[in-house]
Amino acid sequence: MVIASDAGPRCPLPMPWGWFQVLYSGDLAVGESKPLRYFDQDLVIFRTESGAVKVLDAYCPHMGAHLGYGIRDQAGGGSRVVGESIECPFHGWRYDGEGKCTHVPYAKNLPPRVAKGEQVIDCWPVREINQTILVWYHPDKIAPTFEPESIAEAQPEHPDWSEFDIYRWDIDVHMQEMAENAVDPAHFLFVHGTDDVPDAEVLEFEGVTRRGFLKTRNPTPKGIIEGAIENANTGPGLSVVRFSGIYDTVLMANVTPIGPELTRAFYAFIQPKATLDTLGKTVGKAIIKNICQQMEEDMIIWAHKRYLEKPMLCDGDGPFAKMRRWYGQFLVSGN
Ligand code: FES
Ligand SMILES: [Fe+2]
Repeated sequence: MVIASDAGPRCPLPMPWGWFQVLYSGDLAVGESKPLRYFDQDLVIFRTESGAVKVLDAYCPHMGAHLGYGIRDQAGGGSRVVGESIECPFHGWRYDGEGKCTHVPYAKNLPPRVAKGEQVIDCWPVREINQTILVWYHPDKIAPTFEPESIAEAQPEHPDWSEFDIYRWDIDVHMQEMAENAVDPAHFLFVHGTDDVPDAEVLEFEGVTRRGFLKTRNPTPKGIIEGAIENANTGPGLSVVRFSGIYDTVLMANVTPIGPELTRAFYAFIQPKATLDTLGKTVGKAIIKNICQQMEEDMIIWAHKRYLEKPMLCDGDGPFAKMRRWYGQFLVSGN
């Protein structure tokens, strides 16, 4: 029986909608702009003089220059930001964050749409929260239907929690294939070589959120230490995982579609400030290393697998159907 052909994509699903991380806050200074490539589209991001982050479609409606690449003294970086607007490098037209043209330097008569103050470039909803910059993607351009959640440990200059320790991967896989790992206990044995796989005590799917809780038993030189892993998703793009027991670690694990089968994973680890120079240097670093190693192991499977609409499951496999039902709410067919 043929289960998959070589023709067509490895995964036929569209990109999911929701909030997705595109940068960390620290990646974009006041007055800075950058090209972005996400959601199979070219975009430009800029931070205005007042500090607001704006995202527009990349191409200038005048003659099609990309707004994210500077020239002359800005060459190699983004284009100029002037006040609340970004300036096109080609002929100096300026656009605000709502996609309206705010300045045409040499025209005696403005193009009618500019004169009327119409929006001439599509703009994207943006939130800056948890030291990350998030963009709302929906293939039908529907306005945001939910908000991202604030993560206490991820607030800037937190008295108790460290700065982010950041890792990033671009993975040849549809995002849903990655999400399915969360309900796949058996893969731990084979992909990650862990011999004791705890079952999830809680696995809740509610609206756009998903929560899991599992208890762990960690072998250490001092014996077994009980621990827990708590994870929470808000939409398909945003998740936070809290590891406790040996050494408290918070992982903000956000994933964003660059294209339907190319996903960027942003991992930011946060650990207790008080013990960063002691236990953090040994156990804390080992936990981060182990999680990153698991990612590298998973990547090999993801980058080469095919999506099966009807996997041949057995009773030891996790609740894939539930997961797919939850995930399916973010997939608009026909896109
Ligand atoms: S192409 Fe942008 S100002 Fe001309
Ligand atoms: Fe895994």
